Formats: sequence, structure tokens, C-alpha cells
Amino acid sequence: MIELKDICKSYYGQGIENKVLRHIDFKIEAGEFVMLYGESGSGKTTLLNIIGLLDPCTSGQILLDGKNITNLAGDEQAKLRNQTFGYVFQSFYLIPELNVMENVCLPAGYAGKKKKEMARRADTLLQEVGLADKKKLRPSQLSGGEKQRVAIARALMNDPDIILADEPTGNLDSGNSGKIMTLLKKQHLQGKTIVMVTHDPEMDRYATRKIRMADGVLV
Ligand SMILES: Nc1ncnc2c1ncn2[C@@H]1O[C@H](COP(=O)(O)OP(=O)(O)OP(=O)(O)O)[C@@H](O)[C@H]1O
Ligand SMILES: [Mg+2]
Repeated sequence: MIELKDICKSYYGQGIENKVLRHIDFKIEAGEFVMLYGESGSGKTTLLNIIGLLDPCTSGQILLDGKNITNLAGDEQAKLRNQTFGYVFQSFYLIPELNVMENVCLPAGYAGKKKKEMARRADTLLQEVGLADKKKLRPSQLSGGEKQRVAIARALMNDPDIILADEPTGNLDSGNSGKIMTLLKKQHLQGKTIVMVTHDPEMDRYATRKIRMADGVLV
């Protein structure tokens, strides 16, 4: 489904090259639940952002179902980001001025979906993540676990094939982590491909494959 070929990523500061990813070759099959581990600074977030087209690589290729998506035009890239990938981050990134319902609907708005259809889907998703009664609240009125569940509902709004999750339970207690993982597991069972970064060895049991990163390479 996704194939990374010889991916390198460097950051440059004050004339010095910092090689963050070094020649990464990596294939993810449809339906896998890949758990990505590794020390802080090893390049996990960088790799996830490159897979999800949130950040460009310095060299190498990304293939999606055999098609090279490395240097797509802006609008094609935006379409993939909106419809093929769903993103869940450690710090939620909800929009504070929008209520729960509006935050969940956001990706569908970009995709040009009809209001009624959007509301119906958002209702179903909020039901599924257990927040049907909090639709009108703002993110500031929610707990961390609730915010992350809103973020997951938002990530699922356009029914993406691939879910990229960067330490989605990193800021949560074990009860809330369990809820988030139950939701992700359900998505996996429904056939979604998931790549998740975590520091928590407890998450092993959800993975179909575990990968460790060290110093910009997969080991
Ligand atoms: N925008 C940036 N500019 C310059 N350097 C960056 C940038 N983003 C990341 N880096 C560097 O790239 C390296 C890898 O960062 P990355 O965020 O991918 O690590 P990580 O494995 O996700 O770590 P953590 O577990 O702490 O989240 C770090 O050394 C970091 O300083
Ligand atoms: Mg990170």
C-alpha cells in the first residue's frame, strides 16, 4: 500500500546538515497496524509526517499503491491529505473557536460535502467515540481524553484508508489511553491501515508489526 524508497531527510541550520532520516526503505501493507518505537529524537515524527505528506523529504520516493506521490502538485497532495490519510497527534490540534461538532466536520467541509450529510456522519462518529452529549462544547471545556476522542472522530470524518497517529495516548491516563486504543483497534478490524508512534510497550498487543527507530534508521 505505502512504500518508502531510500527516504532521507535533513534539516539545515547555520550551515550544518542534520541528517534526521537516513536511507529508509519501508513497506506497509494494507490492513497492517504498525507500531513505531524509538528514543526521543530518533526521527519517528519526521517519518510519520513524511508518510502523511505533511512534510517533504530531502530525497527518495513515496509510493501509494504503486503510484509515486512524492512530488505531487499542491492540490493533489491536499486531496490525499484530506481523503486518504487521517491524522491523530499527541496534542490534539483542535480549533478552539469551534465546538466539538464543528471540529469533527472540518475535513468534510474542505472536501465539499453537503451540510446535512456531514452532520449525520459527525453524529455517528461522536456517538461512536462516546461524546454525543458534548457536541456543542468547545475544546477548552473537555478533558484531554475527550479532546483526543474528538480528534479521532475528526480523523475518521472522510473515512481515510490510512490512519497516522503520533503518540495519540502520550498525554492520557491509562483509562483514557484504553478508550483511544479501543477506537483505533476497531478501525483496524474494519480494515484500516494504521501507523502509530508510541513510547509505551503496553501498546505491543495492538500491533501486527513493531518497528524500532534509532538515529534516523529502522532497526
Ligand atoms: N523543523 C525542524 N527543524 C530542525 N530540526 C528538526 C525539525 N523537526 C525535527 N528536527 C530534528 O529532527 C530530529 C528528529 O525529530 P523527531 O521529532 O522526528 O523525533 P521523534 O523520534 O519524534 O522524538 P520524540 O519521541 O521526542 O517525539 C531531532 O533531532 C529534531 O531536533
Ligand atoms: Mg515525535
